[in-house]
Amino acid sequence: MTDSAAAALREAPHVDRPRVLSGMQPTDALHLGNYLGALRQWVERQDERDALFCVVDLHALTVPEAVDPATLRHRSRAVAALYFACGLDPERNVVFLQSHVPEHAECSWILTCTTPLGWLYRMTQFKAKSEGRDSVGAGLLTYPVLQAADILLYDADEVPVGEDQVQHVELTRDIAMRFNHLFGDTFVLPRAVVPAAGARIMGLDDPTEKMSKSIMVERPGHGIGLLDPPDVLKKTIMSAVTDSQREFRFEHASPGVRNLLTILASLVGESHETISERFGGRGYGDLKKAVLEAVSETVTPIRERFEALMDDPVELDRILERGAAAARERASATLQRVKAAVGVGG
Ligand code: TYM
Repeated sequence: MTDSAAAALREAPHVDRPRVLSGMQPTDALHLGNYLGALRQWVERQDERDALFCVVDLHALTVPEAVDPATLRHRSRAVAALYFACGLDPERNVVFLQSHVPEHAECSWILTCTTPLGWLYRMTQFKAKSEGRDSVGAGLLTYPVLQAADILLYDADEVPVGEDQVQHVELTRDIAMRFNHLFGDTFVLPRAVVPAAGARIMGLDDPTEKMSKSIMVERPGHGIGLLDPPDVLKKTIMSAVTDSQREFRFEHASPGVRNLLTILASLVGESHETISERFGGRGYGDLKKAVLEAVSETVTPIRERFEALMDDPVELDRILERGAAAARERASATLQRVKAAVGVGG
């Protein structure tokens, strides 16, 4: 095979039906940012993709407050149930818990050995999460290597994520290229796929901060939880930060107003311009009411389906076991390739 043919194969080997891998942390209930940035695009393209989605419970161990074992076990299943409640079909996708597939941790160790420390210190999430702490676990630094293993084990072409994860997917590419260079072609090179709208939803109480699960725990009013009951949704959205102008004008819209506009535009599938025209000259109360209506229409059926799924834990576990078995079959084949390349396990 020529070099360019080999490169083409590494870049996009699954031409007809791209292979997809993505995941979420089970740190707490998911929010609207997780839905608009990632989950919705997983669901929308499930017919065109050969996709695997995991709940990354091993990654959750890097955050010390999440280590209560019973809570973590519960949240991992709850996040899987939320995937299904949002519309992921377990018949068309492989859905599993990361810790059920031990190949992730094994592959992660091998990749840790070929990843320069400097690459990891540069990650903005590491900097943000370690800032101001006296001591951080080594796992917080090597976190993106485990994420690389999640992706590379499945020869994923595409990784559908929100904007904040793009740096980790680019690092995964670098890790794969370095490994291929050192040990010969082993990994497919993945790329991040970010939605056109909703890739970065900001906090409602402070639109300079990204909507985040950890802040939601401390500050009610920061985020819109997918499982929030109607009264909480109303309170959060109606008290969202806007600005001191009385009425909506697109050209002068503050970050808080733009964030509301983005949420509404993404949920109803219209452009910022169309929405701006509709609300031009009207008060912010009208805009917030429209956001509340669109959010409620989206999350109410999700919450109902979620509750039904959590009512049948045996069935949920059965689906996850089946997912883990299907994932292991693929992951173990890749890991064998990796081990053979570096000379262990034979
Ligand atoms: P996590 O659990 O923080 O977030 C899950 C997904 O939600 C997206 N997201 C957002 N999108 C828009 N606006 C927001 N405010 C917002 N907040 C979060 C994230 O970009 C992500 O797509 N490291 C990952 C989990 C992970 C992973 C993987 C992802 C582990 N292994 C392999 C992809 C592939 C994380 O902590 O995501």
